[in-house]
Amino acid sequence: MRCFSTLCLGLSAITLSQAAAFNKRAALDDCLQSSSAPSDVLGSDDWKLDVAPFNTRVNFTPVAIAVPTKIEHVQSAIACAVKLGIKVTPKCGGHSYASLGLGGEDGHLVLELDRMSNVSLNTETNVATIQAGARLGHVASELFNQGKRDFSHGTCPGVGVSGHALHGGYGMSSHTHGLATDWIKSATIVLANSSIITASASSNADLFWALRGAGSNFGVVVSYEFNTFAVPANVTWFAASLPWNKSNAVANLEALEEYVNTTMPAELNMRVFASGFLTQLEGQFFGDVAGLKSALAPLFNKTGGTIQQAQTVGWLEALAHYGNMKLDQTHPYSMQETFYSKSLELPSLHGATASAFVDYWFTTAKNITTSRMWYFQIDLHGGAHSAVTNGDFSLSSYAHRDKLYLIEFYDRVSRPPYPADGHTFLDGWVSAVTDTLKEDEWGMYINYADTSLDRETAQRVYWGKGLERLRGVKERFDPDEVFYYPQSVNPKTGAGTK
Ligand SMILES: Cc1cc2nc3c(=O)[nH]c(=O)nc-3n(C[C@H](O)[C@H](O)[C@H](O)COP(=O)(O)OP(=O)(O)OC[C@H]3O[C@@H](n4cnc5c(N)ncnc54)[C@H](O)[C@@H]3O)c2cc1C
Ligand SMILES: *[C@@H]1O[C@H](CO)[C@@H](O)[C@H](O)[C@H]1NC(C)=O
Ligand SMILES: *[C@@H]1O[C@H](CO)[C@@H](O)[C@H](O)[C@H]1NC(C)=O
Ligand SMILES: *[C@@H]1O[C@H](CO)[C@@H](O)[C@H](O)[C@H]1NC(C)=O
Ligand SMILES: *[C@@H]1O[C@H](CO)[C@@H](O)[C@H](O)[C@H]1NC(C)=O
Ligand SMILES: *[C@@H]1O[C@H](CO)[C@@H](O)[C@H](O)[C@H]1NC(C)=O
Ligand SMILES: *[C@@H]1O[C@H](CO)[C@@H](O)[C@H](O)[C@H]1NC(C)=O
Ligand SMILES: *[C@@H]1O[C@H](CO)[C@@H](O)[C@H](O)[C@H]1NC(C)=O
Repeated sequence: MRCFSTLCLGLSAITLSQAAAFNKRAALDDCLQSSSAPSDVLGSDDWKLDVAPFNTRVNFTPVAIAVPTKIEHVQSAIACAVKLGIKVTPKCGGHSYASLGLGGEDGHLVLELDRMSNVSLNTETNVATIQAGARLGHVASELFNQGKRDFSHGTCPGVGVSGHALHGGYGMSSHTHGLATDWIKSATIVLANSSIITASASSNADLFWALRGAGSNFGVVVSYEFNTFAVPANVTWFAASLPWNKSNAVANLEALEEYVNTTMPAELNMRVFASGFLTQLEGQFFGDVAGLKSALAPLFNKTGGTIQQAQTVGWLEALAHYGNMKLDQTHPYSMQETFYSKSLELPSLHGATASAFVDYWFTTAKNITTSRMWYFQIDLHGGAHSAVTNGDFSLSSYAHRDKLYLIEFYDRVSRPPYPADGHTFLDGWVSAVTDTLKEDEWGMYINYADTSLDRETAQRVYWGKGLERLRGVKERFDPDEVFYYPQSVNPKTGAGTK
């Protein structure tokens, strides 16, 4: 009897919660329809495209996907979700490694913004107005075609301007010109109560600071003003092989570090890229081949290195070279990989830290012979002449300007699924390095969002010293955590509401 009644209760509880989920979906659909905010029909082709994550390892199911084409749609969709107690997540390019653009968990209302992608350059002020669903390749094409301008940003044409620029944004012009976020002049944002405000250096300055580094936490940005620079007539892209091996790699990393610290000119942008098969420097130089050779000579004198390819080309050709696909990407866009990725923002990579890194590289990583395709890239992010280092800390919440290196670790399989025990490979590499450092000496980059981090750790490593101030801004603008995701900033006093 007792047993039976428990079973009964259990069954009816499941049925009730399923019914509740169903009712919530139905109620949200009704509300979206009556407010005329467009949305995808569950299971339709649009739904399938919009729900497909870049990283097929990390899938989530939203309760609904709204597809706004104007600001009023964003406002009314947020109002519907808030009324029903549903979390809201804006999605731009959908390239988050942890699928944070889908909410990072099931059951969110996703606002798919990629139908809002207009770019308009004012050729008198050189300020660009950009809708928040545009992809980087489209933005760059438009800024070039409308006035031979750009701002610094990453290399993949399909990456969304919002996720990218709201959390940093590092690319082949960043050593010269800073992060994408540094070029945001103002942002128009719809808050949890559906009101619209503008944040800039002179208006809502605290929110502006918070948006530039942690912008996924406070509301839905619907458009930006970006400052731009005049692009040079041509730049030089290059690749140079590095003859590094297990016995000389630590000394070579130390020589590289001294070069980055003191000598590497502002015009040079580059990273060390290594996979199972090759180790090379690759980058972009604001100048010609002769200038590139003399810039690299003092480095190669110490570390070895031979330029394999160097080509002076126009701006769009250089973007296309690193983009690896048609530059101008807009809806419909689909590209997917299956991978696990981690990052490190490091102040240096010498001594015991370099030894730990190199030992894992040559002993464990190089020993992998299965279908895993791993690589790392060490972006030479800081140093004496870096525009990132020399940018003003007080103007953005990007926490790692003082770091010399931005390292991405990436482990991809050619066919899903990613192996269930696969994570230990990169987890082990990163912990081998961080074990040699104090907790506050290193960080991580949310644009390479890491699914292994719990919420507290994620906040600490992504936002470092700025975290307490961010929690204050969160408390002011989103105290009820409408824009929650599993690694989001929690409000100062509301910690633990979820
Ligand atoms: C192939 C590839 C290449 C990359 N190359 C680089 C690179 O060169 N340099 C670099 O720095 N990074 C690079 N990245 C990382 C990239 O910058 C991040 O993944 C970025 O967050 C993706 O932005 P998104 O808009 O495409 O992603 P989404 O998944 O749509 O969004 C990411 C986050 O931003 C939030 N967000 C989206 N739109 C808004 C909005 N309008 N308002 C508020 N919050 C919003 C989302 O909710 C989510 O939390 C690359 C990623 C990939 C997959
Ligand atoms: C976006 O561009 C299209 C095509 O140029 C235009 O019809 C539309 O009005 C623009 N929308 C906004 C909000 O500027
Ligand atoms: C690069 O641009 C400069 C200035 O316009 C021009 O003189 C030079 O010929 C160009 N070089 C190449 C290789 O395109
Ligand atoms: C590593 O490379 C150096 C030359 O740069 C060479 O002298 C040395 O023998 C190499 N060591 C190994 C273990 O291959
Ligand atoms: C490079 O600069 C960093 C930061 O100032 C410092 O910690 C590191 O020791 C320097 N490295 C070398 C090799 O000079
Ligand atoms: C490095 O530079 C020194 C001083 O100019 C020179 O004597 C030496 O031959 C160079 N070494 C290499 C490997 O290029
Ligand atoms: C190298 O790979 C082999 C075969 O997978 C494995 O047995 C061995 O333990 C690995 N060695 C190291 C140092 O990881
Ligand atoms: C909406 O929220 C903001 C930030 O909390 C607040 O300043 C504003 O007064 C609110 N607007 C309305 C209409 O409630």
